[in-house]
Amino acid sequence: MPSSFSSALLRWYRTHRRDLPWRRTTDPYAIWVSEVMLQQTRVEAVVPFYERFMAQFPDVRALAAAPEPSLLSAWAGLGYYSRVRNLQRAAISIEAAGQFPSGYDALRALPGIGDYTAAAVASIAFGARHAVLDGNVMRVMARVTNDAGDIRGSATRMRLRDAADARMSRADPGTFNQAVMELGAMLCTPSAPECGRCPVRDFCAGRGAGRERELPVKLGGGARKTEVTQILIIERGSSILMRQRPADSARMAGFWELPDAAMLPRAEPLETLGAFRHAITVTDYRITVQRARIAVVPEGFVCIERAGLAELPVSTTTRKALLILDQADRVHPMEPPG
Ligand code: ADE
Repeated sequence: MPSSFSSALLRWYRTHRRDLPWRRTTDPYAIWVSEVMLQQTRVEAVVPFYERFMAQFPDVRALAAAPEPSLLSAWAGLGYYSRVRNLQRAAISIEAAGQFPSGYDALRALPGIGDYTAAAVASIAFGARHAVLDGNVMRVMARVTNDAGDIRGSATRMRLRDAADARMSRADPGTFNQAVMELGAMLCTPSAPECGRCPVRDFCAGRGAGRERELPVKLGGGARKTEVTQILIIERGSSILMRQRPADSARMAGFWELPDAAMLPRAEPLETLGAFRHAITVTDYRITVQRARIAVVPEGFVCIERAGLAELPVSTTTRKALLILDQADRVHPMEPPG
C-alpha cells in the first residue's frame, strides 16, 4: 500500500483520470480559460465550449483583441457572462504587461481571478504549491479529516484548505489539485461515495467514523425561488421582435433577447409553442414560449430578420425559445398571410 495520501491519490489519478483537452497542455492561457469555464459548469458541458473557444481565441493576444459580440457569442450557453468579460479585461492587462504572470499573487491581482483560479493556474501551469478549494475539494477534505464544521463558514474553509495543503504532493502540486477534484467528481460524490473503490479510504477519518455520508455539513441552505414567465414570439414577415439589453445592465449587457409578457402588456397571445426550464443563481424559471401579436412595434424593440439571428449574441433563454420556434415551424409551418 502506498505510504502517503498523496502517493495513493496520484497513483489512482494516473490510471483513472478522464482525458480532457485542458489536461493535454501546459499553456497557462489554456489552463486559465478552462478553469474559468469550469466554475459553475460541469466538466462534460464545458468540453465543446472550450474547444470552440480555443480555436477562435487561441492565445492571450487573440482574446484581448476580440470584438465583444464574437466573445459573447462564443460564451453563449455557459452563462455568467461577467466571467468572459473579466477574462478579456485580464487578457488586455496581460498583453500590456508583456508576459503571463506566473505567481499566485500576480494572478490573483487580475480582474475576475479569485483564490480558486489563482491557485489552479499557479499550481497546474507553474507548479506552485497552492491548494485549490472548490466544492469537490471541500467535500473530500471534510470527509478525510472528519470535519463537521459548516462549509459556508470561513473558519471551516481555512481548516479544509490547510488539510489539502498538508497533504499536497511536493513534487507535483498541480496534479495533486486536479486529482483531489477528480476524486470528488468521480468517487467521493455527495450522496453515494464509492468508498470501496477509493484509493485513500485508509486515510479517511470520516469513513473510519462511518460518517462519510453526513459530511460535509452545509447549514442554512439557500431557499430557491420559482418564477413563471412567458416569452413572446411576435413576427413581422420573416422578422421577429427583439430588443438589445442596455449597456449598463447588471446581467448580459448588450445581448439580444425576445420580449416577455411583462414587457408587453398589450400583446395578444395566439398559441403556445412549448415550454422549458432555466435556472439562474437561486431562481428556477418555468418559461412558456408563445406566439403573440401586437399592433405597433413598441419603443425600444426592433424587428430582426430570423436568418441574421445567428450572428447576434442572444441570451440563453432566447436561444432556447428560438429553438422551440424552429421546431414548431418545422412541424407546422405558418401559412403565408393573405
Ligand atoms: N474542476 C475544475 N477544474 C478541474 C480540474 N482541473 N480537474 C478536475 N476537475 C476540475
